[in-house]
Amino acid sequence: MTTATGTTRGTGAVGAARTRLEGLAKVTGEARYSGEVPYAELAHGWIVLSTVARGRVRAIDDGPVLKMPGVLAVLHHGNAPRLKEGFVGSFGPDPVAEILQRDRVPHIGWPVAFVVAETSEQAREAAEALVVEYDTEPHDVDFHADHPARYTPEASPMGPAVTAKGDLDTELAASAVLVDERYSTPEQHHNAMEPHAAMARWDNGRLEIVDSSQGTFATANDIAALFQLDPASVRVRSEHIGGGFGSKALARAHNVLAVMATTVIGRPVRVVLTRRQMFSLIGYRSPTTQRVRLGAEADGRLRAFDHDGVSLTSTLTEFVEASTGFGRALYDADAHHTANHVVPLDVPTPTFMRAPGEAPGSFALESALDELAEKCGLDPIELRARNEPTVGPVTGLPFEDNDLIACFREGARRFGWADRDARPGVRREGRWLIGTGTAAATFPAGAAPSTAAVTAEADDTFTVRINAADVGTGARTALAQVAADALDVPTERVRVRIGDSDLGQAWLSGGSMGTRSWSWAVMAAITELRERLALGADIPPEGITVRSDTTEAIGAQSERERHSYGAQFAEVAVDVSTGEVRVRRMLGIFAAGRIVNPLTARSQLTGGMIWGLSMALHEEAIRDRASGALANGDLAGYHFAANADVPAVEADWIGEPAPDDPVGIKGIGEIGIVGAAAAIANAVWHATGVRHRHLPIRPDRVL
Ligand code: MOS
Repeated sequence: MTTATGTTRGTGAVGAARTRLEGLAKVTGEARYSGEVPYAELAHGWIVLSTVARGRVRAIDDGPVLKMPGVLAVLHHGNAPRLKEGFVGSFGPDPVAEILQRDRVPHIGWPVAFVVAETSEQAREAAEALVVEYDTEPHDVDFHADHPARYTPEASPMGPAVTAKGDLDTELAASAVLVDERYSTPEQHHNAMEPHAAMARWDNGRLEIVDSSQGTFATANDIAALFQLDPASVRVRSEHIGGGFGSKALARAHNVLAVMATTVIGRPVRVVLTRRQMFSLIGYRSPTTQRVRLGAEADGRLRAFDHDGVSLTSTLTEFVEASTGFGRALYDADAHHTANHVVPLDVPTPTFMRAPGEAPGSFALESALDELAEKCGLDPIELRARNEPTVGPVTGLPFEDNDLIACFREGARRFGWADRDARPGVRREGRWLIGTGTAAATFPAGAAPSTAAVTAEADDTFTVRINAADVGTGARTALAQVAADALDVPTERVRVRIGDSDLGQAWLSGGSMGTRSWSWAVMAAITELRERLALGADIPPEGITVRSDTTEAIGAQSERERHSYGAQFAEVAVDVSTGEVRVRRMLGIFAAGRIVNPLTARSQLTGGMIWGLSMALHEEAIRDRASGALANGDLAGYHFAANADVPAVEADWIGEPAPDDPVGIKGIGEIGIVGAAAAIANAVWHATGVRHRHLPIRPDRVL
């Protein structure tokens, strides 16, 4: 059923479906996660979070708590180690620089103290007994599009805030068909199966942190900068990770607090977050409101394109959920405008969450395209085909390749799209209305500089060392396959060491760039190693090691638009008596270059699509205006798709290896969620004739 293409080279290790190398260790419990690694003299920390949404800590009465059983220390802003003022982290200013530095409370759920004790239970009991007094100030957690504090940032890690080409008003006025609608998506949370956890200790003058991290190099650098340490004296390890989705990309409160505590008490300190704490300490996806204006000729060709997005940030640092990036890559028009705006509120700082920007942006834009297709009397796939850009709509750069329409064509064939009656609200099975919908997906295909070392061992095996992170997606296995393929040996003869900042600089597991960035570095080392081995060198007992650094090669790349593409299809049934939406089937066809491991790749893609289903129908964190707290900040209240909500979900792929990558990889980390919610919303329209522009599509909104 797989239509994976790509040249089979070497042993064919790349392209083979393989279970995870560490799978057995994981299911037998031999693999240890960061909260499980044993240490002698280990102390345990518990974070005390603010219970008010804005104000100052007036007093912390730590006296009684220090007398409680097992309690070793209570850290707060009055006694905690000082962090670097004006800290700028790997991705810019970061709220962790404020932890226990001032009496200021910027939002509810902010760390105001850290209790350390002999056991986790003692720390928790003491933390819950700690009396913290506050001077409260009026707070504002009310997100809406026209908030007076709204501003337009200069840029974000996801690109410029504003792009503008052509005369929008003129083109809108000259358009035969107009769509002008507002869409919204709620606050959403990534809540990885493995809660965030870290152990920190000083070991012979070096700081060691065992963390659950998408990128130990960034964490090590940021911790070194925060505590003003020599970066060489900080080591962060993260061998097994139970999901990250953007929430484990950077040092967070638990890392900082564990380091503070071990520095103060001189013993290893571990802290493990609770589910509830994760809802305020690890970041989340901002809610968005978006306005999309499309103006087209009667034949569907776009004259005017305007996508305007608003998201929130905290009062501590700026994070932009850049929802308009999606359309910058996909659709051209004579006048093309996009802008992202931000509203600072008394809330925790949002962060990267699976397809940051593209996930909410694709919901709004791909819904609007469907509305335009309806108004033009065009098939939605045909509308996209008529608007296929020849160069990057904003950059003017040539495409590496663009398989969007090919994905739609293959998906349409497999889904049975040709049989679709375009009229909405006309298919009924008992009390169910049936509909189908489609939407486009895209995500940038990037690569970032990384270093690797590959050793030809004396026993005829090979060792790859690279500071990659396997967040559970199978990156370790993919790297073994890439290396085996390039070395022309069976995968069993390759051992892969990852997850340790001492292995050197490498990109993190994020931005859908992990496997591509790491593979590039591994390929570079292997190319040189094979040249050395071809000269017939005898392998000494310590082996022959070749190191690589892709900084120069990646810097020398030509400027092109590089993206993965996809087409999402969904069929839904809507219960006219209860408003319940059931997704019956989903199909995603992707073009993402060479697929290294079809087994884990399919998992990654269907996982994203299921998340898109969850986003369309279920997920919604609701903030209470009065208290400033989430009304449903735990997994009992934050509703997400369970197995019974998930129908037949199929992901497959087409296309050739990416021409600009040494292995042909593009990246599949995030594209699975992109467009999935829009495909479902469009299917709900097709079933019922009613547009849903606000997620989630709850039963009460359907009725
Ligand atoms: Mo992702 S949001 O780059 O983990």
